[in-house]
Amino acid sequence: MHPEGPGGIARRTPLLTNVVRLAPVRARPVGAVALFALLAGCEGRQSVLSPAGLEAEFVASLFWWLLGGAILLWVLVNGLFVYVTRLNPKPLSRRLAEALIIGGGIVFPVTLLAVLLSLTLPRIPEHRAPADGLRVHVQGEQWWWRVEYWPEGATEPVISANEIRLPVGMPTEITLSARNVIHSFWVPALAGKLDMFPGRETRLAVEPSETGVFRGQCAEFCGTSHALMAFEAVVMEPDAFEAWLATEAGDARPPGGETATRGEAVFLAEGCGGCHTIRGTPANADVGPDLTHVGGRESLAAGILPMSEDALADWIAHTSDTKPGVMMPDYDYLPEDDLRALATYLAGLK
Ligand code: CUA
Repeated sequence: MHPEGPGGIARRTPLLTNVVRLAPVRARPVGAVALFALLAGCEGRQSVLSPAGLEAEFVASLFWWLLGGAILLWVLVNGLFVYVTRLNPKPLSRRLAEALIIGGGIVFPVTLLAVLLSLTLPRIPEHRAPADGLRVHVQGEQWWWRVEYWPEGATEPVISANEIRLPVGMPTEITLSARNVIHSFWVPALAGKLDMFPGRETRLAVEPSETGVFRGQCAEFCGTSHALMAFEAVVMEPDAFEAWLATEAGDARPPGGETATRGEAVFLAEGCGGCHTIRGTPANADVGPDLTHVGGRESLAAGILPMSEDALADWIAHTSDTKPGVMMPDYDYLPEDDLRALATYLAGLK
Protein backbone atom coordinates (compact mmCIF):
# COMPACT_ATOMS: atom_id res chain seq x y z
CA MET A 1 0.00 0.00 0.00
CA HIS A 2 1.18 3.49 -0.79
CA PRO A 3 1.99 5.17 2.55
CA GLU A 4 0.57 8.46 1.30
CA GLY A 5 -2.53 6.91 -0.20
CA PRO A 6 -5.89 8.55 0.43
CA GLY A 7 -6.69 8.44 4.12
CA GLY A 8 -3.54 6.50 4.85
CA ILE A 9 -2.12 8.86 7.43
CA ALA A 10 -5.55 9.92 8.62
CA ARG A 11 -6.44 6.30 9.49
CA ARG A 12 -3.15 5.51 11.14
CA THR A 13 -2.83 8.55 13.35
CA PRO A 14 -5.95 8.03 15.50
CA LEU A 15 -5.19 4.32 15.78
CA LEU A 16 -1.72 4.89 17.22
CA THR A 17 -2.69 7.78 19.47
CA ASN A 18 -5.68 5.81 20.73
CA VAL A 19 -3.42 2.96 21.72
CA VAL A 20 -1.28 5.37 23.70
CA ARG A 21 -4.28 7.10 25.26
CA LEU A 22 -6.04 3.86 26.12
CA ALA A 23 -3.08 2.52 28.09
CA PRO A 24 -4.04 3.30 31.69
CA VAL A 25 -1.42 5.36 33.48
CA ARG A 26 -1.62 3.07 36.51
CA ALA A 27 -0.65 0.06 34.39
CA ARG A 28 2.97 1.23 34.37
CA PRO A 29 3.77 0.85 38.09
CA VAL A 30 1.72 -2.36 38.15
CA GLY A 31 3.66 -3.61 35.13
CA ALA A 32 6.97 -2.67 36.76
CA VAL A 33 5.99 -4.47 39.99
CA ALA A 34 4.95 -7.55 38.00
CA LEU A 35 8.24 -7.48 36.09
CA PHE A 36 10.29 -7.26 39.31
CA ALA A 37 8.21 -10.06 40.84
CA LEU A 38 8.88 -12.19 37.78
CA LEU A 39 12.60 -11.41 37.86
CA ALA A 40 12.71 -12.20 41.60
CA GLY A 41 11.33 -15.63 40.67
CA CYS A 42 14.46 -16.17 38.58
CA GLU A 43 16.69 -16.03 41.69
CA GLY A 44 17.38 -19.04 43.81
CA ARG A 45 18.72 -22.55 43.96
CA GLN A 46 16.94 -23.85 40.87
CA SER A 47 17.64 -21.07 38.44
CA VAL A 48 19.62 -20.79 35.25
CA LEU A 49 20.01 -17.10 36.13
CA SER A 50 21.79 -17.80 39.44
CA PRO A 51 24.69 -19.90 38.14
CA ALA A 52 26.94 -21.66 40.66
CA GLY A 53 29.11 -23.63 38.24
CA LEU A 54 31.27 -22.95 35.19
CA GLU A 55 28.90 -24.65 32.73
CA ALA A 56 25.88 -22.80 34.12
CA GLU A 57 27.80 -19.51 33.95
CA PHE A 58 28.39 -20.17 30.26
CA VAL A 59 24.68 -20.94 29.70
CA ALA A 60 23.64 -17.81 31.63
CA SER A 61 26.06 -15.56 29.75
CA LEU A 62 24.80 -17.02 26.48
CA PHE A 63 21.24 -16.23 27.60
CA TRP A 64 22.10 -12.59 28.40
CA TRP A 65 23.94 -12.14 25.09
CA LEU A 66 21.02 -13.61 23.15
CA LEU A 67 18.52 -11.54 25.12
CA GLY A 68 20.59 -8.39 24.50
CA GLY A 69 20.76 -9.23 20.80
CA ALA A 70 17.02 -9.90 20.65
CA ILE A 71 16.23 -6.57 22.35
CA LEU A 72 18.59 -4.75 20.00
CA LEU A 73 16.92 -6.37 16.98
CA TRP A 74 13.47 -5.59 18.33
CA VAL A 75 14.37 -1.93 18.78
CA LEU A 76 15.99 -1.84 15.34
CA VAL A 77 13.04 -3.43 13.51
CA ASN A 78 10.43 -1.37 15.34
CA GLY A 79 12.49 1.79 14.96
CA LEU A 80 12.66 1.16 11.24
CA PHE A 81 8.93 0.50 11.18
CA VAL A 82 8.13 3.74 13.00
CA TYR A 83 10.55 5.61 10.76
CA VAL A 84 9.02 4.49 7.48
CA THR A 85 5.40 4.65 8.62
CA ARG A 86 5.40 7.75 10.86
CA LEU A 87 8.53 9.85 10.57
CA ASN A 88 9.31 9.56 6.90
CA PRO A 89 6.34 7.94 5.17
CA LYS A 90 7.62 8.25 1.64
CA PRO A 91 7.88 5.39 -0.82
CA LEU A 92 11.36 3.88 -0.95
CA SER A 93 13.20 3.54 -4.20
CA ARG A 94 13.05 0.01 -5.61
CA ARG A 95 16.80 -0.29 -5.17
CA LEU A 96 16.76 0.65 -1.49
CA ALA A 97 13.77 -1.63 -0.87
CA GLU A 98 15.58 -4.57 -2.46
CA ALA A 99 18.75 -3.78 -0.56
CA LEU A 100 16.73 -3.76 2.68
CA ILE A 101 15.09 -7.09 1.91
CA ILE A 102 18.30 -8.84 0.85
CA GLY A 103 20.50 -7.16 3.43
CA GLY A 104 18.08 -7.14 6.37
CA GLY A 105 16.19 -10.29 5.49
CA ILE A 106 18.97 -12.62 4.34
CA VAL A 107 22.54 -11.37 4.81
CA PHE A 108 22.10 -9.91 8.31
CA PRO A 109 20.32 -12.87 9.97
CA VAL A 110 22.55 -15.46 8.28
CA THR A 111 25.68 -13.60 9.41
CA LEU A 112 24.35 -13.09 12.94
CA LEU A 113 23.29 -16.74 13.34
CA ALA A 114 26.61 -17.94 11.89
CA VAL A 115 28.53 -15.82 14.43
CA LEU A 116 26.41 -17.09 17.32
CA LEU A 117 26.77 -20.68 16.15
CA SER A 118 30.54 -20.32 15.81
CA LEU A 119 30.69 -18.93 19.37
CA THR A 120 28.63 -21.73 20.93
CA LEU A 121 29.40 -24.91 18.96
CA PRO A 122 33.10 -25.13 19.93
CA ARG A 123 32.08 -25.03 23.61
CA ILE A 124 29.94 -28.16 23.41
CA PRO A 125 32.80 -30.72 23.46
CA GLU A 126 34.17 -29.06 26.64
CA HIS A 127 30.87 -29.73 28.35
CA ARG A 128 30.86 -33.36 27.28
CA ALA A 129 34.54 -34.18 27.82
CA PRO A 130 35.40 -36.63 30.60
CA ALA A 131 36.95 -34.96 33.61
CA ASP A 132 39.94 -36.47 35.40
CA GLY A 133 39.05 -37.66 38.85
CA LEU A 134 35.60 -38.24 40.22
CA ARG A 135 32.85 -39.68 38.06
CA VAL A 136 29.24 -39.82 39.21
CA HIS A 137 26.85 -42.10 37.38
CA VAL A 138 23.16 -41.27 37.66
CA GLN A 139 20.46 -43.57 36.33
CA GLY A 140 16.90 -42.38 35.92
CA GLU A 141 14.23 -44.66 37.41
CA GLN A 142 10.47 -44.15 37.70
CA TRP A 143 10.60 -41.71 39.62
CA TRP A 144 13.86 -41.54 41.44
CA TRP A 145 17.60 -41.39 40.84
CA ARG A 146 20.08 -44.26 41.23
CA VAL A 147 23.48 -42.71 42.02
CA GLU A 148 26.97 -44.25 41.90
CA TYR A 149 30.21 -42.48 42.83
CA TRP A 150 33.35 -43.67 41.07
CA PRO A 151 36.38 -41.94 42.59
CA GLU A 152 39.49 -42.07 40.40
CA GLY A 153 40.90 -45.61 40.31
CA ALA A 154 37.93 -47.15 42.11
CA THR A 155 37.04 -50.73 41.19
CA GLU A 156 33.57 -50.60 42.66
CA PRO A 157 31.19 -47.72 43.14
CA VAL A 158 29.82 -46.06 46.25
CA ILE A 159 26.07 -46.52 45.87
CA SER A 160 23.53 -43.92 46.89
CA ALA A 161 20.26 -42.45 45.64
CA ASN A 162 18.14 -39.35 45.16
CA GLU A 163 20.86 -36.82 45.94
CA ILE A 164 24.19 -36.00 44.39
CA ARG A 165 27.13 -34.49 46.21
CA LEU A 166 30.00 -32.78 44.43
CA PRO A 167 33.24 -31.12 45.48
CA VAL A 168 33.49 -27.39 44.74
CA GLY A 169 36.12 -26.09 42.31
CA MET A 170 36.86 -29.51 40.81
CA PRO A 171 35.64 -30.97 37.52
CA THR A 172 33.37 -33.97 37.91
CA GLU A 173 32.15 -36.13 35.08
CA ILE A 174 28.50 -37.05 35.35
CA THR A 175 27.47 -40.01 33.21
CA LEU A 176 23.77 -40.57 32.68
CA SER A 177 21.54 -43.46 31.70
CA ALA A 178 17.96 -44.62 32.23
CA ARG A 179 16.40 -47.96 33.06
CA ASN A 180 13.21 -48.03 30.99
CA VAL A 181 12.01 -44.60 29.84
CA ILE A 182 13.77 -41.36 28.89
CA HIS A 183 14.41 -38.84 31.67
CA SER A 184 16.36 -35.59 31.62
CA PHE A 185 18.95 -34.58 34.20
CA TRP A 186 18.90 -30.90 35.03
CA VAL A 187 20.47 -28.87 37.83
CA PRO A 188 19.96 -25.38 36.36
CA ALA A 189 22.40 -23.72 38.78
CA LEU A 190 25.22 -26.11 37.83
CA ALA A 191 24.92 -27.03 34.16
CA GLY A 192 22.68 -27.37 31.14
CA LYS A 193 20.16 -30.20 30.92
CA LEU A 194 20.92 -33.55 29.33
CA ASP A 195 18.63 -36.46 28.46
CA MET A 196 19.04 -39.90 30.02
CA PHE A 197 18.37 -42.81 27.66
CA PRO A 198 17.89 -46.53 28.24
CA GLY A 199 20.81 -48.43 26.74
CA ARG A 200 22.96 -45.40 26.04
CA GLU A 201 25.27 -43.30 28.18
CA THR A 202 25.37 -39.52 27.95
CA ARG A 203 27.93 -37.39 29.74
CA LEU A 204 28.16 -34.00 31.31
CA ALA A 205 31.23 -32.30 32.78
CA VAL A 206 30.43 -30.02 35.71
CA GLU A 207 32.60 -27.79 37.83
CA PRO A 208 30.67 -26.13 40.67
CA SER A 209 32.03 -22.74 41.68
CA GLU A 210 30.03 -22.26 44.92
CA THR A 211 29.13 -24.49 47.83
CA GLY A 212 25.45 -24.85 48.65
CA VAL A 213 22.38 -26.97 48.10
CA PHE A 214 20.91 -26.67 44.62
CA ARG A 215 17.82 -28.30 43.21
CA GLY A 216 17.69 -30.64 40.27
CA GLN A 217 14.59 -31.74 38.43
CA CYS A 218 13.74 -34.31 35.79
CA ALA A 219 13.06 -32.28 32.66
CA GLU A 220 11.56 -34.91 30.36
CA PHE A 221 8.07 -36.32 30.79
CA CYS A 222 8.64 -39.84 32.11
CA GLY A 223 5.25 -40.92 33.45
CA THR A 224 2.62 -40.04 36.05
CA SER A 225 4.98 -38.64 38.66
CA HIS A 226 7.46 -36.96 36.34
CA ALA A 227 6.91 -33.63 38.10
CA LEU A 228 7.69 -35.33 41.44
CA MET A 229 11.13 -36.49 40.32
CA ALA A 230 13.59 -34.02 41.80
CA PHE A 231 16.76 -34.14 43.86
CA GLU A 232 19.21 -32.02 45.79
CA ALA A 233 22.70 -31.35 44.47
CA VAL A 234 24.91 -30.61 47.46
CA VAL A 235 28.19 -28.87 46.63
CA MET A 236 30.78 -29.23 49.41
CA GLU A 237 34.35 -28.20 50.18
CA PRO A 238 36.67 -30.96 48.85
CA ASP A 239 37.74 -32.12 52.35
CA ALA A 240 34.16 -32.31 53.57
CA PHE A 241 33.21 -34.16 50.40
CA GLU A 242 35.98 -36.76 50.90
CA ALA A 243 34.86 -37.31 54.49
CA TRP A 244 31.24 -37.63 53.41
CA LEU A 245 32.13 -40.09 50.63
CA ALA A 246 34.13 -42.26 53.06
CA THR A 247 31.07 -42.46 55.36
CA GLU A 248 28.74 -43.09 52.43
CA ALA A 249 30.95 -45.99 51.28
CA GLY A 250 30.66 -47.70 54.65
CA ASP A 251 27.96 -49.97 55.99
CA ALA A 252 24.97 -48.56 57.81
CA ARG A 253 25.61 -47.50 61.38
CA PRO A 254 22.63 -48.72 63.41
CA PRO A 255 21.23 -45.68 65.22
CA GLY A 256 20.86 -47.65 68.48
CA GLY A 257 18.13 -47.12 71.03
CA GLU A 258 15.05 -49.20 71.67
CA THR A 259 12.76 -47.53 69.12
CA ALA A 260 15.26 -47.64 66.27
CA THR A 261 16.12 -51.27 66.99
CA ARG A 262 12.44 -52.10 66.84
CA GLY A 263 12.25 -50.12 63.60
CA GLU A 264 14.99 -52.25 62.07
CA ALA A 265 13.08 -55.39 63.03
CA VAL A 266 9.94 -53.95 61.39
CA PHE A 267 11.95 -53.12 58.24
CA LEU A 268 13.16 -56.70 57.91
CA ALA A 269 9.88 -58.34 58.95
CA GLU A 270 7.81 -56.31 56.47
CA GLY A 271 10.02 -57.43 53.59
CA CYS A 272 11.40 -53.96 52.82
CA GLY A 273 14.68 -55.74 52.04
CA GLY A 274 12.97 -57.30 49.02
CA CYS A 275 13.37 -53.95 47.25
CA HIS A 276 15.92 -51.92 49.23
CA THR A 277 19.48 -52.32 50.41
CA ILE A 278 20.75 -51.30 53.80
CA ARG A 279 24.38 -52.42 53.75
CA GLY A 280 25.35 -54.26 56.91
CA THR A 281 21.87 -55.81 57.24
CA PRO A 282 20.28 -58.72 55.35
CA ALA A 283 18.47 -56.18 53.12
CA ASN A 284 20.34 -56.23 49.82
CA ALA A 285 17.90 -55.77 46.91
CA ASP A 286 18.24 -53.02 44.34
CA VAL A 287 14.72 -52.55 42.97
CA GLY A 288 14.28 -49.34 44.96
CA PRO A 289 16.67 -46.70 46.30
CA ASP A 290 19.61 -47.73 48.49
CA LEU A 291 18.76 -46.69 52.06
CA THR A 292 22.10 -47.34 53.77
CA HIS A 293 22.53 -43.66 54.71
CA VAL A 294 19.04 -42.37 53.87
CA GLY A 295 18.75 -40.26 57.03
CA GLY A 296 21.79 -38.23 55.98
CA ARG A 297 20.08 -36.94 52.84
CA GLU A 298 18.59 -33.49 52.54
CA SER A 299 15.27 -34.71 51.21
CA LEU A 300 13.05 -37.75 50.84
CA ALA A 301 11.09 -39.43 48.04
CA ALA A 302 13.31 -37.91 45.32
CA GLY A 303 13.40 -34.29 46.41
CA ILE A 304 9.75 -33.81 47.30
CA LEU A 305 9.62 -34.15 51.11
CA PRO A 306 11.94 -32.81 53.79
CA MET A 307 14.04 -35.44 55.56
CA SER A 308 12.38 -35.95 58.95
CA GLU A 309 10.80 -38.71 60.99
CA ASP A 310 7.33 -37.27 60.41
CA ALA A 311 7.84 -37.10 56.66
CA LEU A 312 9.25 -40.63 56.60
CA ALA A 313 6.25 -42.03 58.50
CA ASP A 314 3.87 -40.15 56.24
CA TRP A 315 5.68 -41.29 53.09
CA ILE A 316 5.80 -44.98 54.07
CA ALA A 317 2.09 -45.04 54.94
CA HIS A 318 0.88 -43.00 51.94
CA THR A 319 3.31 -43.51 49.08
CA SER A 320 0.69 -43.49 46.32
CA ASP A 321 -0.94 -40.28 47.60
CA THR A 322 2.43 -38.58 47.74
CA LYS A 323 3.74 -39.92 44.44
CA PRO A 324 0.99 -41.34 42.20
CA GLY A 325 2.04 -44.43 40.24
CA VAL A 326 4.99 -45.24 42.53
CA MET A 327 5.95 -48.94 42.74
CA MET A 328 6.29 -48.95 46.52
CA PRO A 329 3.01 -49.99 48.15
CA ASP A 330 1.24 -47.99 50.89
CA TYR A 331 2.12 -49.36 54.32
CA ASP A 332 -0.96 -47.75 55.85
CA TYR A 333 -1.88 -50.97 57.66
CA LEU A 334 1.18 -50.79 59.93
CA PRO A 335 0.35 -50.12 63.57
CA GLU A 336 1.24 -46.53 64.48
CA ASP A 337 4.00 -47.67 66.87
CA ASP A 338 5.66 -49.82 64.21
CA LEU A 339 5.42 -47.03 61.64
CA ARG A 340 6.99 -44.54 64.07
CA ALA A 341 9.76 -46.99 64.98
CA LEU A 342 10.49 -47.60 61.29
CA ALA A 343 10.69 -43.85 60.67
CA THR A 344 12.99 -43.39 63.68
CA TYR A 345 15.27 -46.17 62.42
CA LEU A 346 15.50 -44.83 58.85
CA ALA A 347 15.97 -41.20 59.92
CA GLY A 348 18.82 -42.40 62.15
CA LEU A 349 20.73 -44.00 59.26
CA LYS A 350 23.16 -41.14 58.70
CU1 CUA B 1 12.00 -38.61 35.04
CU2 CUA B 1 10.56 -36.96 34.15
